[in-house]
Formats: sequence, structure tokens, C-alpha cells
Amino acid sequence: MQKLAIQGGVPLRGEVRISGAKNAALPIMCASLLTADALSLGNVPELHDVVTMRKLLQQMGVMATLEAGAVTLCGAQVDKLEAPYEMVKTMRAAVLVLGPLVARFGEAFVSLPGGCAIGSRPVDLHIKGLQAMGAEIHIEHGYIHAKASRLKGARIFFDIVSVTGTENLMMAATLADGVTVLENAAREPEVVDLANCLRAMGAKISGDGTDTITIAGVDRLHGAEHRIMPDRIESGTFLVAAAASGGNITLTGGRADILDTVLEKLLEAGAHIRTDGTSIHLEMAGRPKAVNLRTAPYPAFPTDMQAQFMALNAVADGSAMVVETIFENRFMHVQELRRLGALIDVEGNTCMVRGVQQLEGAAVMATDLRASACLVIAGLVAQGETVIDRIYHLDRGYEHIEAKLSQLGANIRRLK
Ligand code: UD1
Repeated sequence: MQKLAIQGGVPLRGEVRISGAKNAALPIMCASLLTADALSLGNVPELHDVVTMRKLLQQMGVMATLEAGAVTLCGAQVDKLEAPYEMVKTMRAAVLVLGPLVARFGEAFVSLPGGCAIGSRPVDLHIKGLQAMGAEIHIEHGYIHAKASRLKGARIFFDIVSVTGTENLMMAATLADGVTVLENAAREPEVVDLANCLRAMGAKISGDGTDTITIAGVDRLHGAEHRIMPDRIESGTFLVAAAASGGNITLTGGRADILDTVLEKLLEAGAHIRTDGTSIHLEMAGRPKAVNLRTAPYPAFPTDMQAQFMALNAVADGSAMVVETIFENRFMHVQELRRLGALIDVEGNTCMVRGVQQLEGAAVMATDLRASACLVIAGLVAQGETVIDRIYHLDRGYEHIEAKLSQLGANIRRLK
């Protein structure tokens, strides 16, 4: 199993380019199932999850062609309406084929995802939404079997804000008969990026980016070209790494307008930040100040940045309270940070972090994608060597991470 070895203590300095967003690329790739025409996507990140999604779509009969950063998907010959357990268990986002398959082909077999490292993460809202649109759904041998002659527009209220739930139902509704209204919908920028792509394909969608999305179904969608938005979580991860290490970096190709709460927390930690269109510059002099945070759906503080800020708080001046309200088991990085000397107490969904002057390098284990990013940041600021095991989690969501960090001066290498 591959590991990362990091010699800590070097402040990050320099410029790095932000990749396309994983959480926008995955649903948008599934949108290719909604049409027989070609969907050409640019700025697609080279990530394990993107490869897994491409394989899944190819297994269904989607033709895929690849060039650097560009993927063209054509769903003219889809003949297998199934997302098997082997794929869904490694990547929950595979459940995003459900809505498009039922909408265009009237049937889908999609494995239930089961539990995952950060919590139970059910898909009941995806299922209830499709049922409200007239689909007949049975759970058979661990699979969701959905059938509908043609989905019908419906008013659907989410009792919990769900990102992929909103995306699945928004895609399903594009080909439904009549108007669908999604209430208490997710407002994440990735939902808006998907809506932009669907509109380019001929869908009639309004209200994306607010909590009420209206979709007027059409008879068919057509091909389109779309450029995937930049990854706000990758951007945030590099900024936190620079702030925690007392660095000075510039991100290019990102977007500051979708990073408000993250930038606010970095300012509170003492960073100097300048933004200019697509570039974000951060400079940190000295030790960061501890920052309290509470995760919640967009535009509030993202759960996908909680672990990275935990690493920053671990070496900050003062104490911070971190509350996780989205996932019930998203503190697995805490045990590993403690191995590096962090002082963190956990009580239910709340952590109290008491910053220490210095972490010390040690062997640690990555448990999920963002926990891995937290350990990388901790390794960058710790004294001596940190070796992170199970970094396949990191490769699922960060493009060329060690090359990008090396470019910023980090002493990091992959052990094969
Ligand atoms: C997406 C992101 C993930 C991010 C998360 C929260 C993708 C591919 N993944 O995951 O990186 O951490 O949003 O911002 O975009 N829930 C239910 N029933 C459902 C669906 C969700 O109870 O049917 C609950 C979940 O267990 C969780 C909460 O709703 O507690 C939010 O989850 P959700 O927004 O659905 O997360 P994902 O879309 O899976």
C-alpha cells in the first residue's frame, strides 16, 4: 500500500493551479446518461473517483474518450441499467446514476451504498423523491430497483439538505412530464454547476443556488460542452496548509466568491488574504490563532473543510470548539492527530482543540478523504518525519497532491 512521507517545518511558498471540482465532475458525468448525444467536459480532474465513474458509465454502455483534462461521454448505446455494489461501495457518488437512468430508460438497478467511514449516509431522500415522481421502487438483494414508464413532475420537500439527493432528483426531473419543485434543496455551487450543464443540454431549470429549484421537464435533452468549475475544497485545503505552516501562496484558476466562510475563518486565524478574480493570495506571519467553527450546508462552513481546520487549530494559539453537524462520525482524524501530539477532546459531535506550540512527526493512518488532507497539513507543520498510510483515500479527491505541494516547497514523497 502506498504511503506519503513528509518532513515537516517548511512554510509553503509559491503558486499553484487549482483543479476542476471532484464534486461537480461526478454528477455532471452522470448527466451524460440523459441524452443520446455527446457531452464534452473540460477541466475534468485526474482522480480515482473520476476514473471509477468513467468505468461505471462505460460498463453501462456509455462511450468515453479522453484527452488531457477533457472527457467526452456519449450515451447513445446504453444497454445495462446497473450500478454494481463493487463500484458503489468504493464511491457513493455512483448513486447519482439512479435519477438519470430512471428518467431516460424507465428502469435502474443501483446498489445501496451501505455505511461509510464518516457515517451511515442513507439514500432514503433520493428514493422518496423518485417515488413522489411516480417511480415504483423495491429494495431487492441490496439493490434499489426503480421502474417508471415516465416520471411525473412533483413537489418534493427535503427534510434534510442533501447535495447528491438534490442533484439526483434535479437530473431526474429534467425529462419528467410536468414541473418539479425541489424545496429545501442544497445550495452548493456544485449543484449550480450541474444545473448550468443541464441547461446547456436543453433542460429548463431555475432557482439553483437557492433552496427552491424548479425544473420544467422536456421530452429530450441534447449534447453540450461544459467546463467543470474549480474545486473549492482543494483551494481551501492549500490555503489552510499555507496558513498553518506560516506560508505565502497564490492559488490560480480558483474562485474566491464560493469560499466566503473559509476565507473568513482564515482571516480570523490571522492570515492576510487578497483576491483578484481567479487568483487568491494568502500570507501568514507567525502562528495562527485558534478559530471556532460549526459545519452546516452551503453557504455555511463546509464539512469537507472541518478536518483541515482541525490540523490548523492543533498548532494554533488558543483553544477552539469544532462542531460537526452533517456527519455523525467525522472525527476519525482526531485519534491520528493525537499521535502527533495534538490536544483534542471529543464529546459527541463537538471537539475542543487546545493548540500546542509544535506537533511531532509520527506514523499515522488516513481513514477518509478529508481526514487524509488533515494529516498532510499536520505532517507539513510537524517537527521531523510523518508517514501517512492508506493514501488511496487522498488520490480519490486531490489531483497530483504531492507534485503540487512539492512545487510549493514541501518536502514530501510517495513511498511505493
Ligand atoms: C456530498 C459531497 C460530500 C460532502 C457532503 C456534505 C458529493 C459527491 N459529495 O455528499 O463531499 O461531504 O455532500 O456537504 O458531492 N442524508 C440522509 N438521507 C439521504 C441523503 C442524505 O439522511 O437520502 C443525510 C446524510 O447522512 C448526511 C446529510 O444528509 O447526514 C447530508 O448528506 P448529503 O448532502 O446527502 O451528502 P452527499 O451528497 O452524500
